[in-house]
Amino acid sequence: MTGRKVLVTGATGLLGRQVVNAFESRGWDVKGTGYSRADGVSIIKVDLGNASDVERVLDETKPQVVVHCAAQRFPDKVDKDPEASKALNIEASRSLAKLCAARDILLIYISTDYVFSGKPGEAPYETDATPGPTNLYGQTKLDGEVAVIDEYKQASKEGLGIVLRVPVLYGKAETPSESAVNVLMDAVWKAQEAESKTKMDHWAIRYPTNTEDVGRVCHDLANKYLETTDKNSLPRILQFSSEDNMTKYEICQKFAEIMGLSMDGIVANTEGNDPNASVQRPYDCHLSTKALKDLGIDVSTNDFVGWWRREVHAFRH
Ligand SMILES: NC(=O)c1ccc[n+]([C@@H]2O[C@H](COP(=O)([O-])OP(=O)(O)OC[C@H]3O[C@@H](n4cnc5c(N)ncnc54)[C@H](OP(=O)(O)O)[C@@H]3O)[C@@H](O)[C@H]2O)c1
Repeated sequence: MTGRKVLVTGATGLLGRQVVNAFESRGWDVKGTGYSRADGVSIIKVDLGNASDVERVLDETKPQVVVHCAAQRFPDKVDKDPEASKALNIEASRSLAKLCAARDILLIYISTDYVFSGKPGEAPYETDATPGPTNLYGQTKLDGEVAVIDEYKQASKEGLGIVLRVPVLYGKAETPSESAVNVLMDAVWKAQEAESKTKMDHWAIRYPTNTEDVGRVCHDLANKYLETTDKNSLPRILQFSSEDNMTKYEICQKFAEIMGLSMDGIVANTEGNDPNASVQRPYDCHLSTKALKDLGIDVSTNDFVGWWRREVHAFRH
């Protein structure tokens, strides 16, 4: 045991589960919170919208670090219920930041590459590039970033409230639909039997990043910030990303190759954005990892195909 304690919000989610693992396997005392999937035993049930519940959990668990993974992160669900999504992504983040800042707790707020517009020719984005979300999900995450940084500033605890932006995630999942990448493995299987062909985007460039790697980066950041006395000298915003770039169509091609399946049922869709559509999708939100590298944090990642081969046991004895 390191004697260090971390509380992970969203610990029942795709990323939160791996953040818990990353800290636990490195000797930290870890507590996780969830909501609908919390069992009340290993994972505490906390509605982050209820500040007094959050306060009680912080005072009972007394962490030095909180990794804030909980969010509504499905863009279509955000559009369907904007008020609940804003309450969780922005207001609950602000309230958590205020409570953590008052207790000198380091807060790592997980954010997204969707804070950027991803217009052709703009990437890679440095941490200080001008944001410009193209959808409400990205806007709520950006507003959450601003709220967290602002609460720490107001409490004169700058350097204890930080943002870590990540791109589309893949990894161990309870169901493929938990990840926009894992779900494509399902799409390839379904295309084997389907009567009509599936159109798959072959325009937007994605950087699928493994949740285990994000967990490790959160752990390394926590150590770095706790161990640095002059926290004011450290950056407030950091970005992590794999350098593997692929369209969704290319991800399907890799899955088909690993599984020995056919791509006949999937056609590449290179149409891109309809210039008249009100919401323009990002083309390329590649996040620069320079700020992490400058801190000496390891930004290496799992090899995409290698990880999937192991995951599906695609090997010969
Ligand atoms: N997944 C991606 O591709 C991706 C890409 C970029 C950035 N991110 C960011 O990474 C973070 C983690 O995403 P994820 O993919 O792990 O999300 P996820 O799998 O959808 O998990 C969301 C988590 O939030 C919890 N939650 C929902 N409503 C809550 C509430 N009212 N109070 C407390 N907890 C609540 C959920 O708990 P229950 O399930 O128990 O209800 C769950 O643990 C998010 O901040 C997201 O914006 C994700």
